[in-house]
Amino acid sequence: GKVGVLFGGRSAEREVSLMSGTGVLEALKAKGVDAHAFDPGERSIADLAAEKFDRVFIALHGRFGEDGSLQGALEQLDIPYTGSGVMACAIGMDKVYTKMIWLMNKLPTPQYATLDANSDLSTVVAELGLPVMIKPPLEGSTIGITKVTLEPELQAAVDLAASLGDVVLAEQFVTGREFTVAVLGKGRAAKALPIVEIVAPGGNYDYQNKYFTDDTKYFCPAVIDDATSAEMQRLAVLAYNALGCEGWGRIDFMLRESDNKPFLIEANTSPGMTSHSLVPMAARALGISYEDLCVEILRSARL
Ligand code: DAL
Ligand code: MG
Repeated sequence: GKVGVLFGGRSAEREVSLMSGTGVLEALKAKGVDAHAFDPGERSIADLAAEKFDRVFIALHGRFGEDGSLQGALEQLDIPYTGSGVMACAIGMDKVYTKMIWLMNKLPTPQYATLDANSDLSTVVAELGLPVMIKPPLEGSTIGITKVTLEPELQAAVDLAASLGDVVLAEQFVTGREFTVAVLGKGRAAKALPIVEIVAPGGNYDYQNKYFTDDTKYFCPAVIDDATSAEMQRLAVLAYNALGCEGWGRIDFMLRESDNKPFLIEANTSPGMTSHSLVPMAARALGISYEDLCVEILRSARL
């Protein structure tokens, strides 16, 4: 059938999505799939309906692509789509609601507070200490995130996050190593892929070091003891299922240096598929090529 690869879009991660989607489109074509590019940032939902796709691969990141709104439109149009459904996407896009769900399920995630531009920041420092991560809850790819080490820098960080939405997330910083775990499948059949460790220059895995420099080092499978690795894979599947994720996703972690305790940081329901991205890296460690991964994700598309 006719497959639409949806990428581009109109979130702050448009540029990343253009890279992800180009990769996915080429891979599916190379595998003989009748795949066509569609950019919801440039064309309307009515245009999408007119294309009469038999299924779509969602390679959009951020709002209006990863947050459930597009998934809702596809449900209305009866077009099967890859990845999680409306609810899991909506919760997964929001770092605060994600943490609430995880905490209700007794899953470990750093202590946090929600703020706005006018909050009293001294109470934040008293409660969470420093460093503290200041994040806009609805963005991806580290956009608008600041690691604040000195109290005088806090207001500017909160102002930056508040410029991207009403709510600001302040999260206790976990000193340690950074990992991510890709998950494929659904429910009892959900499976974690090999763990990836990310070692960014100065511990700063930001937008630039994610996509544009070659200074970030990745280790997959991560060099870590089997018990800790298995524990992160177990937690990743629990975290994924707690949100009701399906198809594929990626759960990000910090591993606390002092006691080797893993903390869940966030979920990505439409992970990057760029040449630097992590899910393809994890799949490769299992001998699954980028192309085969794209086909497998496409196969899991559902309504
Ligand atoms: N938000 C980016 C695309 C990722 O998680 O890979
Ligand atoms: Mg993210």
